Amino acid sequence: MNQFYAFPKPITWGAATASYQIEGAAHADGRSPCIWDAFCAQPGRVLNGDSGIIACDHYHRMEEDVKLMADMGLQAYRFSVAWPRIFPDGDGRPNPKGLDFYNRLVDCLLRHGIEPWMTMYHWDLPQVLLERFGGWQSKETAKLLGDFAGYVAQHLCDRVKNVFTVNEIFCFTEYSYRLGVQAPGLVLPRKQANQVTHNGCLGHGYALQAIRQNAPSDVKIGFTENTAIYQPIWETPEHIEAARKATKAANYNIVDVLANGFYDPAFLAREGADAPEFNDEEMKLIGAPVDFAGLNIYDCLYAEAADNPEGYRMVPTTEAYPKFDVPFVKVGPQKLYWGIRHYKELWGYDNIVIGESGVACDDHMNTDGEVLDTDRTMYLRSTFMDAHRAVSEGYPLNAFFVWSLMDNFEWVYGYSKRFGMVYVNYTTQERTVKLSGKYYSNVIRENAVL
Ligand code: BGC
Repeated sequence: MNQFYAFPKPITWGAATASYQIEGAAHADGRSPCIWDAFCAQPGRVLNGDSGIIACDHYHRMEEDVKLMADMGLQAYRFSVAWPRIFPDGDGRPNPKGLDFYNRLVDCLLRHGIEPWMTMYHWDLPQVLLERFGGWQSKETAKLLGDFAGYVAQHLCDRVKNVFTVNEIFCFTEYSYRLGVQAPGLVLPRKQANQVTHNGCLGHGYALQAIRQNAPSDVKIGFTENTAIYQPIWETPEHIEAARKATKAANYNIVDVLANGFYDPAFLAREGADAPEFNDEEMKLIGAPVDFAGLNIYDCLYAEAADNPEGYRMVPTTEAYPKFDVPFVKVGPQKLYWGIRHYKELWGYDNIVIGESGVACDDHMNTDGEVLDTDRTMYLRSTFMDAHRAVSEGYPLNAFFVWSLMDNFEWVYGYSKRFGMVYVNYTTQERTVKLSGKYYSNVIRENAVL
């Protein structure tokens, strides 16, 4: 082992997935449709008309998937709970068969010595709530997320000790209700779209409160966000300051408000009459302290100092900037380091978790049955170097979840994009650990960048 790159403290190493992307079994055991089922059924929304109806069939293959995780040496596994399995009507009467699946999953993980990290909401909103309230357009949805999360916590948090309230408010509000590219595909006017994002933050707040009140034992609670992270164009004090300012401004309506419990006056001034409606009670919920803050990092953004009122300027990446098999995942050698550092320096987070980091690659199985994803392996190594630098400089990174454990339903790209460390043959459902997965096992074993 190269001692130089050994992590100076233990890191919890894991992999992440999400219910809609892997479970399949869309009609099993009383699950009701979610907004992604409906979205996938609309022609032209998802590449090749793919959907999560079967996905990786993880619902039926859970035990063998957990065994595979154990063979890979994973210490932790981040999964999400499908709301429409547990409350098929969105609220009201819970469905015991839905809960049973997660009970079995948690027990199976613990039997294999893998820590379960659970996400309450990773985008699979029950379709009935879209029909009843317009989904995240209504604060009712935020409240009901609290009820759902409280119920799940009550039943699973005797064993699950780490819980994410929500995954990426930005995606399930901005992409979904402002830009219309993800389910439910709405393009709302600015005022309404701002309200949706506020309601997403409020959903986090209600969930946080409900989990705290209902968990039968001590539990650590946080969120995870694909926060826009600006790196300094190079590391001199003036560009570092510029990157900090750019990062704060880019996150005014999500991480910044979650961290502070109030909207930055510059955000309210910028939005004017289009600012969201809120009250003090809501801001208290939104700004309640979390035990950890999660960062999901994919894009790569640069800022530099500028002689303008903001004090910074964004520097766009070029057309040819190195990227992976989807345009939004760029190489970005220092992005993860800066993300961790901004979380600490801008928002004071003392327990930081990488909720997701990973890439899509054009993976193929060779005639020997191997998937030699040298590109993903390179990316992982570079991102672990970033984590190593952050930890060595004293920034509080404690857990790291690679996205993703296995290839899965990649939202609007369907099955055309592969993010897994495990290759999935969607015809046979056979799993094959890729080169990157083998590399990761070694990193975990040594707690070092190899
Ligand atoms: C999401 C995942 C998704 C990944 C890659 C993240 O924004 O949380 O569900 O698969 O990005 O696109």
